[in-house]
Amino acid sequence: MGRHCRRTGCRIRKFGRREASSSRRQSGQDRAVPFLIIQENDETGWMEVLRGKNWCRASNDHYCARFEEAWARTLGAKYCVATSCGTTALYTSLNALGVGPGDEVILPPYTFVATLNVILMQHALPVFVDSDRETSQIDAHKIEAKITARTRCLMPVHLGGNPVDLDVVLAVAQKHKLPVIEDACQAHTGAWRQRRVSTLGDLGCFSFQASKNLNSGEGGAILTSDPGLHEFCQSFQDQGRGPAEAFHYARQGSNLRMTEFQAALLLQQLTRLEEQSRVREQNAEYLSRLLREIPGISPARMYEGATRNGYHLYMFRYDPAHFADLPRARFLAALDKEGIPCAGGYTPLNKEPFIKAKLNSRVYRMMYSQPEIDGWEARNECPENDKLCEEAVWFFQEMFIGPRRDMDQIAEAIRKIQKHAGELVRT
Ligand SMILES: Cc1ncc(COP(=O)(O)O)c(C=O)c1O
Repeated sequence: MGRHCRRTGCRIRKFGRREASSSRRQSGQDRAVPFLIIQENDETGWMEVLRGKNWCRASNDHYCARFEEAWARTLGAKYCVATSCGTTALYTSLNALGVGPGDEVILPPYTFVATLNVILMQHALPVFVDSDRETSQIDAHKIEAKITARTRCLMPVHLGGNPVDLDVVLAVAQKHKLPVIEDACQAHTGAWRQRRVSTLGDLGCFSFQASKNLNSGEGGAILTSDPGLHEFCQSFQDQGRGPAEAFHYARQGSNLRMTEFQAALLLQQLTRLEEQSRVREQNAEYLSRLLREIPGISPARMYEGATRNGYHLYMFRYDPAHFADLPRARFLAALDKEGIPCAGGYTPLNKEPFIKAKLNSRVYRMMYSQPEIDGWEARNECPENDKLCEEAVWFFQEMFIGPRRDMDQIAEAIRKIQKHAGELVRT
């Protein structure tokens, strides 16, 4: 039997609640993961590596190689390179494309900070393209206007698992002869016109960090079907080694390797990804039907070509005008009281003060002119994204692998908050 919220009378059922601070909940990162399903095969895989005593792929490369093969096959790419995390997958990909100082890279402002950080790590200039509020994705129709002679690559993000408009992105990329890195870190089962995201651009990157739909605590992967890019990434993540000898180096690289433990866990988790994803999709689609009936709640739309949504996040926009002007923060708090985990999502990444500090650093001032640095802020305004950051509400992937009645409960909680919004505003 669940408790009932005193204010709205709604039944409270805990969705595997997490012990996270509100700032962490805001970002959706670093949450405790009590919901995580651990099965016998996970333990078997883990113990095999432990007992085998070859924990590093450099000395064994059994589980990492098997995972790479399995993940490439699952997605329909020729090659996969496992990495230590999603950030290093993106970092390796930028290096593979030769992105460096003086180059511009196009990205969305509605993404996790890692997408930006890797561009700054290369001393390249991030160029933000505004969001499409209806989908919470980059507005692909606005990309072309941001391309200059210095643009070196496009880095769209399939945020929350919802594919970006790849028809438009790829057409612009082709027209301007620009490579595409798909940040699919949140989109393990997303698909565009029946093809899995990460396989349509030149390179596609995943994260297997603890919050992700496919999880090994930390972990990442790069997908490509280009043998040259594959060779580069494989070598770069292993200190630039060549394929043959331990102490022969084809190039400068780094240690960005996945461990055998991570790969063994992923191989086991992979056996249930498809089944869990189907349940998530059914639940999310059902919830969208319920929420579309509630005035002031607008679930993120999918583009016509998006044939599958990975639903790492379930995103919708909240309009206080239909809730007696109850501010979003109070709406989130009321949902939380009803036992529904939720977050307000990202803040505008293009407005992060650390970007300006970085652009004014010694290296950047050597690479870019002062007017270029001073004009960066105005060039990167994203007014639609500013609104999105104020109105977004997120639910998390683990809330969608339970029974359908969980969705009814979410909708019921929102309806009741709406009904009692006038009272909530006055208290
Ligand atoms: C969109 C996006 N890109 C990149 C990353 C970085 O992945 P990782 O945390 O595995 O380094 C994440 C992780 O949450 C992400 O959500």
